[in-house]
Amino acid sequence: MQPHQFTDPFQTIQHILKVSERLNELKDLDAILDRILEESRRLSQADAGTLFLVKEGELVFEYIQNESFADQRDGMKVYSNKTMRIDGKSIVGYVALHGKPLCIDDAYDLPEDVSCKFNSEFDRQSGYRTKSMLTVPIKSSQAKVIGVIQIINAKNDQGEVIPFTKEMGHYLSLFANNASVAIEQGIITREVVLRMVKMAELRDPAETGAHVQRVGAYSAEIYDSWARANQIDKAERKRVRDRIRLAAMLHDVGKVGISDLILKKPGRLNEDEFNQIKFHTIYGEDLFTNSTSELDEMSAEIAANHHEKWDGSGYPGAVNRENGQPGLGKGKSGEDIPLAARICAVADVYDALCSKRSYKTAWDADRSVDEIQQASGIDFDPGVVAAFLESQRAINAIREYFTEETIRDLSTAMESKIIEEH
Ligand SMILES: [Fe+2]
Ligand SMILES: [Fe+2]
Repeated sequence: MQPHQFTDPFQTIQHILKVSERLNELKDLDAILDRILEESRRLSQADAGTLFLVKEGELVFEYIQNESFADQRDGMKVYSNKTMRIDGKSIVGYVALHGKPLCIDDAYDLPEDVSCKFNSEFDRQSGYRTKSMLTVPIKSSQAKVIGVIQIINAKNDQGEVIPFTKEMGHYLSLFANNASVAIEQGIITREVVLRMVKMAELRDPAETGAHVQRVGAYSAEIYDSWARANQIDKAERKRVRDRIRLAAMLHDVGKVGISDLILKKPGRLNEDEFNQIKFHTIYGEDLFTNSTSELDEMSAEIAANHHEKWDGSGYPGAVNRENGQPGLGKGKSGEDIPLAARICAVADVYDALCSKRSYKTAWDADRSVDEIQQASGIDFDPGVVAAFLESQRAINAIREYFTEETIRDLSTAMESKIIEEH
């Protein structure tokens, strides 16, 4: 990460305003949080950072970045149900409660007038040494605290850990408050997507909110591994990752156009019924045509192509729309199928295998992974299957996180081993 170096306050404030504006180009909440944390750390050359959002009166641990841990690549979404109380006990809870920034020079030597405590659990487990900390509330335009950013270990040009300056507290607060607009927008976008999914769910009970949250999150992780393996540059990788998560969640919204009699029929479908179901791909694509955004474009691609198969045996293929009646053509194959749809296909099938369906019981993760591997090069793109295998750690965390019982309308996640609290 290249830190920003500013010589005067005017330049710094201008930079903060520019970065805040660019946040609004992002659509997905995770991508927004990732960018906010990265820019917060850049402002002060901080080694690490975490971001929490307020949900149901508690702080939910959302995102972590730590330059000192190479295996963390460039940030991790937190898939954990761990929450923190908004009270005076922890540092982030204290900041959320009082709505004011807190700057600490040494986490192990807190000033006497600070009543909260530093939890050293993470340092003990990881061997990391937390020293300087800057914790600021994220406030909405109505001055409500909607989250907390905490950045850790500011560094000088020699790489030595130094305290955060008072000015940095002001700058980070300004950025956090501007960033709240993008966060709220990201929450609204995800809620709109979930509402669309709910409409499809009324028709097809298998398309639940938990299923689409998992398929969206799996697709983002698989894409990330694929992009790294294919040396896609970081900016492009983050841009696509931003879109694929929401677009993959919408893969089956075209089911709103299919009859209940077919979708709710218990047991296997006959050939005619199955042929009718195939049209959900075309109806889904139609929902996003005349698209004005890249997100719509990808949503159309995924809706249209998520049942195509690598060997050409899928559907709907090239679609003939003469007489206003879509017909089903010969299946597309290989790289003629858009990448996002090749990824979503693996995520969707894997999730269906792991879940109970009217015609099958839920398979365990190993058996499901095995089945995906068997179909590599036949149903699925081998490069995408390799990326899926590479992402198993995140995929397991996501599977356990989004269950029917714990379904949340905001996605939040990661493996909680990394941090307990700061
Ligand atoms: Fe589908
Ligand atoms: Fe699905």
